[in-house]
Amino acid sequence: MDKVFARTSQSAAARPRPRATVVSMLAGAAAVAATVAVATSASAGTTLGASAAEQGRYFGTAVAANKLSDSTYVGILNREFNMVTPENEMKWDATEPSQNQFSYSSSDRIVAHAQANGMRVRGHALAWHSQQPGWAQNMSGTALRNAMVNHITQVATHFKGKIYSWDVVNEAFDDGNGGRRDSNLQRTGNDWIEVAFRTARAADPGAKLCYNDYNTDNWTWAKTQGVYNMVKDFKARGVPIDCVGFQSHFNNGSPYPSNYRTTLQNFADLGVDVQITELDIEGSGSAQATTYGNVVKDCLAVARCNGITVWGIRDSDSWRASGTPLLFDGSGNKKAAYTSTLNALNAGGTTPPTSTPPTSTPPTSTPPTTTPPTSTPPSTPPPAGACTATLSTNQWQGGFVTNVRVTAGGSALNGWSVSLTLPSGSAVTNAWSAQTSGSTGQVTFRNVDYNRQVPAGGNTEFGFQGTGTAPSGTVSCTAG
Ligand code: G3I
Repeated sequence: MDKVFARTSQSAAARPRPRATVVSMLAGAAAVAATVAVATSASAGTTLGASAAEQGRYFGTAVAANKLSDSTYVGILNREFNMVTPENEMKWDATEPSQNQFSYSSSDRIVAHAQANGMRVRGHALAWHSQQPGWAQNMSGTALRNAMVNHITQVATHFKGKIYSWDVVNEAFDDGNGGRRDSNLQRTGNDWIEVAFRTARAADPGAKLCYNDYNTDNWTWAKTQGVYNMVKDFKARGVPIDCVGFQSHFNNGSPYPSNYRTTLQNFADLGVDVQITELDIEGSGSAQATTYGNVVKDCLAVARCNGITVWGIRDSDSWRASGTPLLFDGSGNKKAAYTSTLNALNAGGTTPPTSTPPTSTPPTSTPPTTTPPTSTPPSTPPPAGACTATLSTNQWQGGFVTNVRVTAGGSALNGWSVSLTLPSGSAVTNAWSAQTSGSTGQVTFRNVDYNRQVPAGGNTEFGFQGTGTAPSGTVSCTAG
């Protein structure tokens, strides 16, 4: 049963307008193009992370724990990036070197560094045929399946609440034919991927859950189609997948395809977010710079493209160092590719971000008897400075899951809260992507760090689970 309620309230406090708003105001006046250009340039971000944030996106990098003592490396990291992916430290061989003995020192160090510097974390990777510890490589069948489930549960629980998105399964498709890659995990049964996703959702309902792969950038390739069909099937059957990661390691053998944007958009149209997760582009000079700029433009053109992560900081940090594929040279100087990337971010996209899953959490008690919820956006946009909250509820006997879409009006939001009143006898038991005040009666949900900012006209989502009857009636959304 879907229920949709919305109400607009309270204006945002006066604050500096985002660049896009300034530009549109100037353009709306009889201003000349030259004036607009000056305004854009004057207010443009000067770092990758800040500029991406102005577009409602993040800009991240892979980080190696043993480089956190390198002051040049850390200086660039802290200045430029607002998302980090541990390059190797969260992989199975690193986190569970002996069965059921977990080791988090290096991964915890990266997470602590990120949190201390206002960066978010992409978790990489829970289940993968590669970089397995020796004991797992030697396992098969039920024993391996159980070991995988235990590994995902333990690791996702350890980092619960600290991960923006998890690469739950990495590189499970074959390069040639669009089918699954043979591996010890695949041989445990074709359902191993969905089991991995359900296990991760149960352990950390607040993290977006991604499938991540390479050579899936070109829409015409069989591998791309294979992954697309799996995601489509997962969405149809309610397997909890929120996002698809495109590694995007580009070189002459696997070049940036002209249909890259089409690929991103087609996946997004399945109802998942898309993320560029391990970007590097071999080459140099203007050719490399142009390709970096094109990748950024493609992400900004796709509303559900959350952000871009490059696979290392300096060329010398890259797994393909000889291909000089990154944004900073070995001395830490900005390359032409950096400038092109920053310019593309500052030029902005035509499409503001639209969604921040996870959008659903499996109920822990009686499963729903109704079809999955769909949310209905408000028919008219809220006025400037306000926000609207739209509920989408899945009710079953004794419990419910409600997803809430927060939509900004004509001004960007820098913080928001949503208040609603639960029916007598009902209680919120769990929420994701929001901080909760109260669990019965009037309950207020406030943004968390990563979804504080919502661009004008854009939206973000959070959700909660409860016992009893789902809320209905007036929902108040407050900016600020
Ligand atoms: O730390 C040891 C060092 O002590 C030892 O002396 C040395 C000898 O070979 O190895 C070092 O470990 C290496 C590790 O990187 C840290 O540098 C491993 O051998 C090496 O295999 C490992 O490579 C990593 C690779 O994944 C493994 O598959 C790369 O750093 C990492 O960038 C790369 O990342 C992958 C993503 O996870 C998935 N997508 C593709 C991407 C590139 O291959």
